[in-house]
Amino acid sequence: MTKTVYVGMSADLVHPGHLNIIKKAATLGEVTIGLLTDQAIASYKRVPYMTFEQRLQVIENIKGVTRVVPQTTLDYVPNLQELKPNYVVHGDDWQQGVQKAVRQSVIDCLAQWQGELVEVPYTQGISSTALHKAMKEIGTTPQIRLKSLKRLLSAKPLLRFLDIHNAISGLIIENTKVETKNGIQEFDGMWGSSLTDSTAKGKPDIEAVDVSSRMGTLNEVLEVTTKPIIYDGDTGGKTEHFVFTVKTLERLGVSAVIIEDKTGLKKNSLFGTEVEQNQDSIENFSLKIKAGKDAQATNDFMIIARIESLIAGKGIDDAMQRAEAFLEAGADGIMIHSREKSPDEIFEFCDLFAQLSNKKTLVVVPSSYNSVYESQLVAKGVNVVIYANQLLRSAYPAMVDTATSILANGRSADVDDKMMPIKQILELIPGGK
Ligand code: SPV
Ligand code: MG
Repeated sequence: MTKTVYVGMSADLVHPGHLNIIKKAATLGEVTIGLLTDQAIASYKRVPYMTFEQRLQVIENIKGVTRVVPQTTLDYVPNLQELKPNYVVHGDDWQQGVQKAVRQSVIDCLAQWQGELVEVPYTQGISSTALHKAMKEIGTTPQIRLKSLKRLLSAKPLLRFLDIHNAISGLIIENTKVETKNGIQEFDGMWGSSLTDSTAKGKPDIEAVDVSSRMGTLNEVLEVTTKPIIYDGDTGGKTEHFVFTVKTLERLGVSAVIIEDKTGLKKNSLFGTEVEQNQDSIENFSLKIKAGKDAQATNDFMIIARIESLIAGKGIDDAMQRAEAFLEAGADGIMIHSREKSPDEIFEFCDLFAQLSNKKTLVVVPSSYNSVYESQLVAKGVNVVIYANQLLRSAYPAMVDTATSILANGRSADVDDKMMPIKQILELIPGGK
């Protein structure tokens, strides 16, 4: 009887290493590829470049492949239990790292029917990580970047965004990675904060930095990064002006704008009721959302409505009424804000939001309730967490310390160990030599 072979693969950027594994598998029997879904891949590394359907088209046409089935988790066991293959073939590179435990569970599972794991030596000189790096260096296009937010939202339970205020803050978000027991962690995208952009320009966060200037910052960041951007649109300004902002953002490849339901002179929300701020009526703000949705040229751009009821002390019922109305008006999601130290009122909102029949993307900004863990937000159904100002807040005190030390000591050596070495700053941005 023909033996059966199972090969789990992402098959994003197919290279000779993949073909080598399939070739080996085909010598053992009839090959079924378990093609990892975007969700399965995103659970331990970046979202693939190609969609599942594109990857499927490529892999089902490769010599030696008999059939392709989706593998919806990083864990092979559910598919193995169903197919009971004689062999699983995999590259030997999963013996260490995040996939080590997955490998062990494959071995244990196969043992139930005397199946065997066959490992193929890793193909040197080519890897999807190297191909991804090369692609990043080539850059991206506005269209691909714009679409990437919706792709990420459908592939991952929670997206993480961090504030930008210049190109280098964008580069930090683009490149910072940490290896944890749950795989490589990185930021999914950038928050075009009005607070940090204004602050970096020495202006208050009152819409005094005009849209042209804000676009200047965005352009700086867009030039050196590839990740999606959510733009802080403040109040959106006058409806007649907002429609132009939407078109400009879309043309640049920004994925979403968040506008807040305030009117008149906007002040930063974290002042709460210490300053006079007026919330827009549900009717007016709904019209602004509708006008924005009508103005956009693609289906990919998102307009997210930000509700200030908790900031203004109007309570959860008011916030919920607005959420329903703004979604009804066409908003692609809701950002709920709070300046409480505890996440309780946000959690209460999340629970009610989860019951809405027309619920969509839910965004939170835990600046005040900063002890909350991402795992708690996931459990409450939050889709995007925005760390709205932490990069600027950490840069500024470091710079003040340096300036103070130079003044106090009459030289710079005393603060040298807090600074990046000169060689490193010269080499931080490639291409300077
Ligand atoms: C920003 O980052 O500019 C925001 C979030 O809008 S907050 O500062 O909390 O209002
Ligand atoms: Mg803002």
